[in-house]
Amino acid sequence: MDDLLIRGRVLSFLREPEGSEDRASYLYEEDGAVLVRGGRIVATGEHAGVAAQAGTDVAVADHRPHLVLPGFIDAHIHMPQMQVIASYGAELLDWLNDYTFPEETRFSDAQHGRRIARLFLEEVLRHGTTTVAAYCSVHKASAEAFFEESHARNMLNIAGKVMMDRNAPGGLTDTPQSGYDDTKALIAAWHGKGRQLYAITPRFAITSTPAQMEMAGALAAEHPACHVQTHLSENQAEIRWTEELYPQAKDYTDVYARYGLLGPKSLFGHCIHLSEREADAMAEAGGVAVFCPTSNLFLGSGLFDYQRYRRRDKRLRVATATDVGGGTNYSMLRTMDEAYKVIALQGEKLNPLQSFWQLTRGNAEALSIADRAGTLEPGTDADIVVLDAGATPAMALRRERVATLAQELFLLQTLGDDRAVAAVYVAGRAVKG
Ligand code: GUN
Ligand code: ZN
Repeated sequence: MDDLLIRGRVLSFLREPEGSEDRASYLYEEDGAVLVRGGRIVATGEHAGVAAQAGTDVAVADHRPHLVLPGFIDAHIHMPQMQVIASYGAELLDWLNDYTFPEETRFSDAQHGRRIARLFLEEVLRHGTTTVAAYCSVHKASAEAFFEESHARNMLNIAGKVMMDRNAPGGLTDTPQSGYDDTKALIAAWHGKGRQLYAITPRFAITSTPAQMEMAGALAAEHPACHVQTHLSENQAEIRWTEELYPQAKDYTDVYARYGLLGPKSLFGHCIHLSEREADAMAEAGGVAVFCPTSNLFLGSGLFDYQRYRRRDKRLRVATATDVGGGTNYSMLRTMDEAYKVIALQGEKLNPLQSFWQLTRGNAEALSIADRAGTLEPGTDADIVVLDAGATPAMALRRERVATLAQELFLLQTLGDDRAVAAVYVAGRAVKG
């Protein structure tokens, strides 16, 4: 049997922590191990006990003294925006028109799409992210390229071809019918193939006509197992324009609700400026608000009120994400560092246990994939990241003052990036380290 025993300081969350002292919210083994068989986790816990369950010809990957965690999950990222990151000086709508749409137009060239899809997955893996919810371009071939590369790596990824039929350059639009047909064909080819999952992806209400929104709603109704992903309430000018385009809707959130696009598999990037009514509607429908801190800061969009959404009586499901290329880093560690600062600017603190829960199990729950990813529980796929809190001289020096696990996690989040990612496994196969 091709068993693999991954040894190290094992950390996996059992539920959302209730505070920085909530020891019962996670499993932590100082001398721990994860046993992998056929790409799945078969045992996790104290090393001696787990090793006893391994076959005689077990291979051992000894990562002591590093931390062994579930791979990171990025709940919102744009594959065609690798060459958009670091575009200067614009807020959302100008940024889309001046930088993003011209760049995405290049994906009419299928070969370009294949090259970027490959580089994209290599880059996220290098940063310890083993699952993304990704936007491709409007071109069907860009989604095919993404899924081919993802499937070849045996990654669990969620992705979709963007649908957009107005307010975008001619080379970057589909039609309600072609968007529907292409999406349908992609779902048939890829949803559930290996570890691939499809997300129906109307870009946002501004770039879809009501006819296309209706088609997107029809797709969601016909494919309830698929995710829906889009953008919501990111920027004030975007909100005003949306309300002008959809005068019958109560507000921006209601636009999606009216077309049957607000449900428990729906992922809404940003959600910065939601009214109480909108937050209630999101909570009641089980929609997911995706917090993209580096992007929200970079584009000057606003401060996502994580604590308000999590503490209200009608609690929102929340995920976190890079939103590259509005976001400025592929690293989920850098992302949670910026999340901490965004929350600090609103007079609150995000504790490190909550951060690492969010990056792993929290995002998996928000994406409805916690039965497969986001934990080290037996039966789930062996997507694993190994973290070194002394990866750089500055980190190693700071670590001399670290006394607790929470302090170590906070150090990793505050100073860490891809250099702190010592190893990465996808379904038990080493892809880094
Ligand atoms: N709203 C619609 N499209 C986009 C996009 O590509 N990035 C961001 N940040 N917001 C959007
Ligand atoms: Zn986005």
